[in-house]
This record gives sequence, structure tokens and C-alpha cells, in this order.
Amino acid sequence: MRIGFLGTGEITAAMVRGLKGQGHRILVSPRNAGMAAQLAAEVAEVTIAPNDEVVAGSEVVFLCLLARVAGEVLPGLPFRQGQSIISVMVDAPIATLQRLCAPATDIAITIPLPPIAVGGCPLPVYPASPALETLFGARNLILPQPSEAALNAHLGVSALCSPILDQILTAVDWLAGFTGNPGAAEAYVAAMIRGYLPERANGGDLAGALQKLSTEGGLNATLRAAMAPAKDDLRRGLDGFRSRLGLDERKTET
Ligand SMILES: NC(=O)c1ccc[n+]([C@@H]2O[C@H](COP(=O)([O-])OP(=O)(O)OC[C@H]3O[C@@H](n4cnc5c(N)ncnc54)[C@H](OP(=O)(O)O)[C@@H]3O)[C@@H](O)[C@H]2O)c1
Repeated sequence: MRIGFLGTGEITAAMVRGLKGQGHRILVSPRNAGMAAQLAAEVAEVTIAPNDEVVAGSEVVFLCLLARVAGEVLPGLPFRQGQSIISVMVDAPIATLQRLCAPATDIAITIPLPPIAVGGCPLPVYPASPALETLFGARNLILPQPSEAALNAHLGVSALCSPILDQILTAVDWLAGFTGNPGAAEAYVAAMIRGYLPERANGGDLAGALQKLSTEGGLNATLRAAMAPAKDDLRRGLDGFRSRLGLDERKTET
């Protein structure tokens, strides 16, 4: 398949690496120049081309720009009917993309994360995208969403990785304060957390794991009680996204 990427930053690099060795032809735009050159050196299928050639030469175009520059960059590019456009941009709703990418109409939004480079990445998508399924479905978990609001709620929750990693690193630091070995502390905590996360959790697996960590008076239950206020902080933080992600207004639309 002929695949184009507009914006050659962190997430494009991860997706291109995830497509390596599958017989595609991949066009990437020249910005960021260093990353584009690195990808071209690393992935034989990659060619660097100006934005208009990326669009003209691709059956599927991934929009990987920052939303604030998309409004200037996308109009005037030679999008066409029959082409699949897949945006990964935060803050760029479907209605805006339809205007910026006209006359293309096959437009979807998904949320790739850096692990897509090696596979196993959950990919919520709205609306369903056969192109995304074809390109990434074999090695990743495609999760079609019933509405743009549902997709956007996934965007909010995707921000959870950062505070969770922050908490984990706090525990690593605490442990290393006693062992004197930060590397071993990190290895221990990462392996421990990984062990509690099933490959594909499905309705109740996580609650079941938590239940097993609930012995009254045990260390797990004691630490959880000490940190209980953090649950309200998390809900408050997620609710803080409601306006930015248009969750309330879109809920009433559907
Ligand atoms: N990183 C993630 O984990 C992640 C996950 C999901 C979604 N996203 C979304 O993906 C988008 C890109 O994120 P990112 O982390 O990859 O950001 P990034 O590393 O800053 O990449 C943005 C890219 O856009 C390029 N660019 C700027 N102006 C351009 C133009 N006129 N033509 C072509 N390219 C241009 C930048 O080039 P210069 O460096 O030369 O300015 C840069 O390569 C964002 O909308 C973000 O919300 C990111």
C-alpha cells in the first residue's frame, strides 16, 4: 500500500517502525528533517517528499501534525475522493478535518501510542477505518468506537500513562533509597506491575486482580487506603478534559 505521513515527529516514527518490512511504500514529509533522515536510513520503504507529494502519492494519509499548524498546512494539499485520511491529532474534530481535507471524505481519528512501533498497541478509532485495520490490525488491537465522544474519552484516558508512570517512579525511588540500586529497583517494580496486567483484560479481570490484593490489614489494602484521595484527584483530572474534548455536547448529540 502507498502510505503518507504529514508531520515526521515522535508518533510518525513509531508508526513507520511498526510498518517496516511489510512491503508498503511510505512517504514522509521533510519536517522534522533529522527524524525524516533517520527514518529513511532505518526503514528501506521510506522516501522523503514535500507535503503535496506525500498527499498526491498516497492511498492512505496519516495526519501527524500538531493541531495548531494543521489549519495552515492542510488546505491546498491535493486530497482527493477515495483516499483514506487517518488523523492522530488531539484537538482536531472530524468536522474540522472534513473542511481541511476536502474533497476527501473517508476520514477517521485514532490514538496511536509509542508502543505501536513493536505492536500490541490499543487503537480506538472513529469512525471504523478499513485502512487502519489493514495496516495495523494484525499486530495491534483495533477498537472501533460508536461515536466521536467515545473516541475522545479514550483520548482523555490515554493521558493516564503519565501520572501512573510518575507514581511508579516514585515507588522505584523509594525502593532504591533502601537497596542503593536504582536499576534493580526499576526492574523489580516494572516486572511486578507487568505481572498484574493480563495481555487482554476483558470485563472484570482487573477487578478480580484487585480483589486478590485486598486482605484486610495487609500491606496492599493499607497502602490503597492511604492513597484513596488520589482516586478523586484522577476523576477530577479526567473531568477537566470534558470541555476540551467536547464530551458533554457530543454526548447529547448521539
Ligand atoms: N507522541 C505521542 O505519543 C502521540 C500520541 C497520540 C497522538 N499524538 C498526536 O500526534 C500529533 C504529533 O505528535 P508528535 O508527538 O509526533 O509531535 P512532534 O514530535 O512535535 O511532531 C510534529 C511534527 O510536525 C512537523 N511539522 C510542523 N510543521 C509542519 C509542516 N508545515 N509540514 C509538515 N510537518 C510539519 C514538525 O516538524 P518540525 O519539528 O520541523 O517543526 C514535527 O515533525 C499531535 O497532534 C499529537 O497530539 C501524539
